Amino acid sequence: MIVWRRMKTATKTVLKSFLPRRVRTFLKTGFYSFLDAVDLIRGADPMIPPRRFYYIGSGDFKKIGEDYLTRFIRDCGLTHASKVLDIGCGSGRLAVPLTKYLNEQGSYDGFDIDPRGILWCTKNITAKYPNFRFCVSDIYNKEYNTFGKYSAKEYRFPYKDSSFDLVALTSVFTHMLPDDIAHYLAEIARVLKPGGKVLATYFLFNKKSGYLNTIRGTLNFAYDCDIYRTISDEIPEAAISFDEEYILGLYKDAGLSMAGPIEYGAETGRQDIILGETKVSPTSSPR
Ligand SMILES: C[S@@+](CC[C@H](N)C(=O)[O-])C[C@H]1O[C@@H](n2cnc3c(N)ncnc32)[C@H](O)[C@@H]1O
Repeated sequence: MIVWRRMKTATKTVLKSFLPRRVRTFLKTGFYSFLDAVDLIRGADPMIPPRRFYYIGSGDFKKIGEDYLTRFIRDCGLTHASKVLDIGCGSGRLAVPLTKYLNEQGSYDGFDIDPRGILWCTKNITAKYPNFRFCVSDIYNKEYNTFGKYSAKEYRFPYKDSSFDLVALTSVFTHMLPDDIAHYLAEIARVLKPGGKVLATYFLFNKKSGYLNTIRGTLNFAYDCDIYRTISDEIPEAAISFDEEYILGLYKDAGLSMAGPIEYGAETGRQDIILGETKVSPTSSPR
């Protein structure tokens, strides 16, 4: 496994050094389209998006989604009737397993700035599960949406106050800049019900302990911008690692508290997980 990862990283590094980004994207899309055609002939699972939509990251699409579902039930109090918001929902990695868990009282909303996954999810998930809704938010991101109209740090989520039991962001804050995250956390606090949970993943570093989750050496956060480090000075959003204390300060500023200790991914190859929650007000009814 480690040898395979190292080979992949070495190949990527070599390709990056002499092929422009556009050419690499073109080749990758062509390669995945070929594999999609093979899958189609062999009878593809209709609830798994084609591989050319795997801009969301590599790994086992189905297993990663199912692992998160287990975690939502175990750590976030997810019930069959929960209302879930998936920010940066990509091509439905979390939505697909949730279709088997949420009932008609429950609901799922996902938004993303890249229309490709949203189109696939609307066509393949909402058509069968109308309480699963997806929308495109045309927000600028130098990695994912270079023509975006809106700025993430000013964007108001298209949902009413106190409407969700759980908000999830998997591998999303790892592609966003500090002011944008600060604003998103405030918006999350607004749309969560009292006592609601927010599960978000990060690459964290801790200046005091010297801890840095480099995801087993496949990412090199070489550019130091004090509170964050990035793998690319040209496109910082390609992958960003944050100072842990800074991020915890943002939760406090947004009125979110910790619902448990940070779960570091260093041992497992996953990203670090922060589970936050909104306060239960004395007057609010139990969820
Ligand atoms: C690595 S992918 C992860 C997708 C999905 N969360 C998953 O785990 O399968 C990162 C996603 O974040 C989205 N994204 C980036 N900036 C965003 C923003 N400001 N608001 C919402 N989504 C964003 C990207 O378009 C992309 O789909």
